[in-house]
Amino acid sequence: MSLDIFIKMKQIIKPINTSFREASKQDLTQILAIENRAYEHPWNEQKFIDSFDNNNSQIQLILLNETIAGYLLSLQSIEFIDILNICIDPDFQRQGLAKQLLNHLVASQQGGVINAILLEVRKSNTVAISFYLNYGFKLIDTRKKYYSNGEDAKILNLQIM
Ligand SMILES: CC(C)(COP(=O)(O)OP(=O)(O)OC[C@H]1O[C@@H](n2cnc3c(N)ncnc32)[C@H](O)[C@@H]1OP(=O)(O)O)[C@@H](O)C(=O)NCCC(=O)NCCS
Repeated sequence: MSLDIFIKMKQIIKPINTSFREASKQDLTQILAIENRAYEHPWNEQKFIDSFDNNNSQIQLILLNETIAGYLLSLQSIEFIDILNICIDPDFQRQGLAKQLLNHLVASQQGGVINAILLEVRKSNTVAISFYLNYGFKLIDTRKKYYSNGEDAKILNLQIM
């Protein structure tokens, strides 16, 4: 296949009907279904419930033609936002949806007090690390044995002001 045809096909399959809304507990079943399909080490239900109950947390959904295609769970501190979970349904990955979720988060902070977005990611999660570096995050630190299975975490930072 020529490069020209490949690029045109990629444009055709790009989703266009995306929208965003904040999640509620009614969305939990669908969120958990995506979580369990997308991760080797998924969050359990209680971790999502804790986030719903925390006033500083927010779960933003990205919808594709009204279907939940992914979510971004963030925790707001005084000057920065921590991304605790970003996940796209495997059926809809590599179509720019996670990038759209991050764009939405960054745009929502314009003119506000937040100056950086921080996150931890498993050292073995090379797909997510590629995604973040591609977006503009910088690797700033490593936390040894951060996860319960002894795996290290990479700390990444994105300055937004
Ligand atoms: C990481 C994740 C959220 C990316 O979502 P996505 O919607 O597929 O990503 P996007 O389509 O927005 O990708 C944007 C860019 O990131 C990079 N990227 C995304 N997926 C990639 C992959 N599998 N391999 C290499 N680079 C990748 C590419 O540069 C891509 O741009 P391109 O498609 O034009 O080449 C998704 O793979 C996922 O849900 N993984 C499981 C959950 C997870 O690990 N979350 C992160 C926890 S810290």
